[in-house]
Amino acid sequence: MRKFLCAGNWKMYLGPLAAKHFGDELRTALLEKGEMERAVREGAMELALMPPFVSITSLRQALGDLPVALGAQNCHGEVQGAFTGEISAPMLSEVGCDYVIIGHSERRHVFGEQDDVMAKKIRAVLTEGMTPVFCVGELLLERDKGETLSVLERQMRAVLPHVTAQEMSTRLVVAYEPVWAIGTGKVASENDAQEACRYLRGLVAAAGGVEAGDQVRVLYGGSVKPENASGLARQADIDGFLVGGASLKPESFLGIARAALA
Ligand code: 13P
Repeated sequence: MRKFLCAGNWKMYLGPLAAKHFGDELRTALLEKGEMERAVREGAMELALMPPFVSITSLRQALGDLPVALGAQNCHGEVQGAFTGEISAPMLSEVGCDYVIIGHSERRHVFGEQDDVMAKKIRAVLTEGMTPVFCVGELLLERDKGETLSVLERQMRAVLPHVTAQEMSTRLVVAYEPVWAIGTGKVASENDAQEACRYLRGLVAAAGGVEAGDQVRVLYGGSVKPENASGLARQADIDGFLVGGASLKPESFLGIARAALA
């Protein structure tokens, strides 16, 4: 069984102080509404938050022993070196990260990250015992030209040969985030999101075998909100969400998790 993962990517929002407030509020909300905390503790769902680097430690302290995993939004492929402004995977592991987002569309399209750096980053994350959340997705122009599946295939082909079948089964998380749906309020239809996630699972199966395809978790991201979460969560090949804007408030983040559990 694939455990549903509800992950919040805070992007460049919420510094250390705001992260502490968020953690305090999340604690209160989770404990007040015991059923959500129970569901997480009993393994029905996993929650994760990916704050900016500088907020990771303060969020971790505020969350204490709450069952919420932490992650980062990017990392460098090398362990250390003269790479001004970069953060390495061992550093993220040291501050308590379990997850690292790799290849987010903003890294690709705003910062110019190309397919060829993704494999190295994914290897760095896996080597540290953390889980990469590898993002793929097409631009609106590519979608309009009917190129969605070929874009997804190209992006996956850049990394799959560098991940073992065992890692695909037990660790790899893939996030389908159509670029036109990110931060726009335009969510993909349930059917389109399901079809893309099913296609991505098939690519993993083709590279790593049937078990890898069955076990790999595929998330959907792009304008997920409490109001649209339950229909998307019901799709057979959607195993979780990568949430941007709606993860910045404990109430809406938990609202999404609750809708997915319902
Ligand atoms: P929004 O949920 O704000 O559309 O962002 C999605 C995203 O980019 C998550 O990584």
